[in-house]
Amino acid sequence: MVYKKLVLRTFLSMKTLVVYYSRTGNTRKAGKKIAGMLNADVEEIVDLKDRSGILGYMLSGRDASLNRQAEIKTSFDASLYDLVVVGTPVWAFTVSSPVRTYLLQNKDKFRELAFFCTQGGSGGKRAFKAMEQLSGKKPAAVLELNEKEAVGESGGIKIKKFADELKSA
Ligand SMILES: Cc1cc2nc3c(=O)[nH]c(=O)nc-3n(C[C@H](O)[C@H](O)[C@H](O)COP(=O)(O)O)c2cc1C
Repeated sequence: MVYKKLVLRTFLSMKTLVVYYSRTGNTRKAGKKIAGMLNADVEEIVDLKDRSGILGYMLSGRDASLNRQAEIKTSFDASLYDLVVVGTPVWAFTVSSPVRTYLLQNKDKFRELAFFCTQGGSGGKRAFKAMEQLSGKKPAAVLELNEKEAVGESGGIKIKKFADELKSA
């Protein structure tokens, strides 16, 4: 009981930011659910490139496989948070270019990090490895979701487990 109270008090005083990029909405949906469970601030990375349609899909795949950076806009200061939870769609079996750029630009500001990704089928683990290298930090927890889990109810248990892991980290 005393221990539970202590964990709860520590969690409540912890400032958390959930930050993600989303091209078609899946990572946004997951990010908002995670933020709700963690009582966190939310920031969506704005990417200045037009990535819509089939051409945008192809450009994005090429950018990711060449480890290219993107031109992005963000406004929250990551250094003001105890924990930053970073979410990306998987592109070409790795991290998306906007999130690659975010991690590189902010690597000196992070105290504690966690990662989540949404994907069609596979590549999440490889994306997390890249994210760890880019940020120079081991994540406190990671979460892989497929598209269905990201947008529907079926991901609920996994998301809750991830949030609980972070609350007690
Ligand atoms: C350029 C591109 C490359 C992708 N590559 C992969 C991949 O390697 N593995 C995978 O499982 N899904 C891949 N996907 C599917 C996305 O990861 C998946 O649809 C994700 O949920 C999209 O998130 P969003 O809606 O937040 O943009 C790719 C999607 C795009 C646009």
